[in-house]
Amino acid sequence: MEHLNTQALRDLLEVGVSLSSETRLDRLLDNVLEKVRKIIDADAGTLYVKEGNKLRFAASQNDTLQTRVSAVERGNPLLNMTFPISKKSLSGYAAVTGEILRIRDAYEIKKSEPYGFDRSFDKKNNYRTRSVLCVPLKDREGQVIGVLQLINNYNKQGKVVPFSEFHVELVRSFASQAAVALTNSQLTEDLLDSYYDTVSRLAVVAEYKDKSTAMHIKRMGMYAQTLSYQLGFSQEDAECLLYAAPMHDIGKVGIPDAVLMKPGKLTAAERKVIETHPQIGAKILEGSKSELIKTSRVIAMTHHEKWNGTGYPQQIKGKKIPLVGRIAALTDVFDALSTSRCYKNAFDMERVLGIMRSEKGQHFCPTVMEAFESALDEILSTYDRLYLKAEAKTKKLKIKK
Ligand SMILES: [Fe+2]
Repeated sequence: MEHLNTQALRDLLEVGVSLSSETRLDRLLDNVLEKVRKIIDADAGTLYVKEGNKLRFAASQNDTLQTRVSAVERGNPLLNMTFPISKKSLSGYAAVTGEILRIRDAYEIKKSEPYGFDRSFDKKNNYRTRSVLCVPLKDREGQVIGVLQLINNYNKQGKVVPFSEFHVELVRSFASQAAVALTNSQLTEDLLDSYYDTVSRLAVVAEYKDKSTAMHIKRMGMYAQTLSYQLGFSQEDAECLLYAAPMHDIGKVGIPDAVLMKPGKLTAAERKVIETHPQIGAKILEGSKSELIKTSRVIAMTHHEKWNGTGYPQQIKGKKIPLVGRIAALTDVFDALSTSRCYKNAFDMERVLGIMRSEKGQHFCPTVMEAFESALDEILSTYDRLYLKAEAKTKKLKIKK
């Protein structure tokens, strides 16, 4: 009779706790896969999430190959890798039929079976898949929402053996828990998505008035996120900047059009009016309980302050300027210099970087400027994608007209 040892029981309990406390889908799935593999002693495993008629890799781990990839990792290509669900693959079969598949040896599946095993991964990685256990994850209505696939079960002697009935029962009860958590987590993500979507649209409102484009907003967010990673922010905090930085100019909605959209040079009085947009922005965003809006408020208020104390509206100096404000200050200027605006053409990158470097310790916080230099490759690739390529596309469309 098989039984769980104390450590395995503890792991199982831990899974329950982490499932109920983890709201981030990517982290949750990575965690689920790790724990279930440990309890059952499976060498490898993959967790797929069903999206329409496709399966998406959410997490994949293999002890022998020493790989552990999940959507948790930033920029991981697995994040968006999907494949159409087909009964011909093992995971696809489990997804379509909702049945559990327990395979003794993936290389000895009878030709009469509707499913088969694709050996290309094994060949490429010099791996040998033997025993496989595929368990569909079902929601409360019994609909398949994902598939948990485990590979190569080790016995105590370190030999690969087939997964047992006991494993099936264990994984099945566990999979239903995971499915509930997955459904809840997807709901939370949906809610977060629509929240971020609303916030981004709010930022676009201000930009419309200012005749900039929605792309400026996107770039600001991406640059700020890149810099915050470089400066050691957590994934969550960096993501917060991705959505908060675009709100920097929200206060421009309160500036009269006659001033904001005036062509040519502004008078000193008009400049004073424009320079009230940080306070207006802070006012719009004040009193929120949301961390995102709180951060947006700080950015709106401080993105025109300069490291040397000559900015506005408070003329605060150095580290008195909140770090998020110093990040937004730099990314705002970088974007203004490197793109064309109604009052200027885009400068070439050499000129942009020359100006940026000369402002280190003047306009810009030296630490943030160093992070900018270190992350320059990533910044330039965002610039290429969200400016150069986007502009070329717009021009093409104009020519077509
Ligand atoms: Fe501004």
